[in-house]
Amino acid sequence: MNAVTLPDGPSLPRFVQGSMALAAPLWMMRRLRERYGPAFTINVPVFGKAVVISDPAEVKQLFMTSPEIADILDVNLGRVLGPHSFFAISGEAHRKQRKLLVPPFHGRRLRGYEAIVEQEAAREMATWPEDREFATLGPMMRITLNAILRAVFGADGAELAELRDLLPAMVKLGSRLVALPIPRTDLGRWSPWGRVHAYRREYDAIIDRLIAAARRDPRLAERDDVLALMLQSRYADGTGMSRDEVADQLLTLLTAGHETTATTLAWTIERLRRHPALLRRLTDEVDAGGSQLREATILEVQRVRPVIDGTARQVRAPGLRLGRWMFPEGQVVVVSIYLLHRDEALFPDAASFDPERFADVRPDAYQWIPFGGGVRRCIGAAFAHMEMNVVLRTMLRDFTVEPTNERGERWHSRGVAYCPAKGGRAVVRRRSRPAGDRVSTAAGRSADGQEP
Ligand code: HEM
Repeated sequence: MNAVTLPDGPSLPRFVQGSMALAAPLWMMRRLRERYGPAFTINVPVFGKAVVISDPAEVKQLFMTSPEIADILDVNLGRVLGPHSFFAISGEAHRKQRKLLVPPFHGRRLRGYEAIVEQEAAREMATWPEDREFATLGPMMRITLNAILRAVFGADGAELAELRDLLPAMVKLGSRLVALPIPRTDLGRWSPWGRVHAYRREYDAIIDRLIAAARRDPRLAERDDVLALMLQSRYADGTGMSRDEVADQLLTLLTAGHETTATTLAWTIERLRRHPALLRRLTDEVDAGGSQLREATILEVQRVRPVIDGTARQVRAPGLRLGRWMFPEGQVVVVSIYLLHRDEALFPDAASFDPERFADVRPDAYQWIPFGGGVRRCIGAAFAHMEMNVVLRTMLRDFTVEPTNERGERWHSRGVAYCPAKGGRAVVRRRSRPAGDRVSTAAGRSADGQEP
């Protein structure tokens, strides 16, 4: 094997770098990028020496590297979500699960979920106060949690209400524990890990009832929800998913599938209120039945405010040559989504929020990477995009959103995702529209019979 070459980086003690990474992670990334260029080595607790990259060619090469050579690293996410979660499996097991679980989130199935998202958005927005500032993050969390619950389980019911209460608490605690070491001794049921296990037992009891009910359903074959598809899906050898696989993967989809989308939506409102001309154009576009500028706006929000700031791989082969570097086995390599999206060479005037840059070009899959890349690219990317599009369209159709001159909200880390520090505050007023044009939230479809 060739000699190991890692990029330069600060020589500060590990605990100092760790404290900086905890206290001001984005500031630290910007400073190190200025000082060392697009690749540098940091030394932090838990991960040890980790290389951070943000050169588009190196990022592309890493994402395209086969998972036998570099795959996700073993973080606690797998321990929170279960050993069969996407975040815990690799190699053949991962490939097989992707094959089974990609179809429910694409094509015809996706269009089927649009109506659910619109119903949930309209139901939540019906409670919004007028002319009074409020944080939109909470409402967005409820919309995205309800939408993913219904997409995953189909009909609503008592179990879904229980999951609606349980999941936010579980996600909140789990997100905080992801990057912390697991204690060697059991600290009891009141310790954070003890609480995670208690939540998991509660989740398992609910999920077993839902699986049993689905298996009894004589119309299972006609159902379009993810659980029904999972229970009927077969691997190449004709076997189905085990109970534990179904339970872990459902939890993975439910947790990965709502906070990220909700925080992006809260950022969208935060950005739009500070760009009144764009806000007006978007409203005109909704009224005219268009969607191009709205789609571009979503892409641009995800560029300037990527809610997941980075994703990582660990070298599994004896060595990996990546661009100028030679990494040893076990090396952790972090792709900084945050730095790549701020690269002036890729996005001129990168700090400015300008959806026009995506008006008639599709973003490059290795330069615009809010959903990561390669075989690990987010399985819910198309679902999330559809969901944000529908929620935004519903809001602009039903409300006038008041612009503001206030400074932009700061980034606040919730553990896994970044949200606007004040929760994406908004002031809205209901738009008066002809009665026939209104959405019936009870029936959950537009009164004029158009596709929502
Ligand atoms: C704006 C919303 C979302 C963002 C920003 C986001 C971001 C990400 C990122 C950065 C990754 C890691 C990719 C990598 O390492 O290359 C990921 C993975 C994943 N996401 Fe998302 N995500 C979003 C929505 C969703 C939704 C709606 C679902 C489910 C319906 C979902 C399910 C998953 C799963 C299962 C994985 C693991 C995939 C694998 O390891 O094969 N995500 N997501």
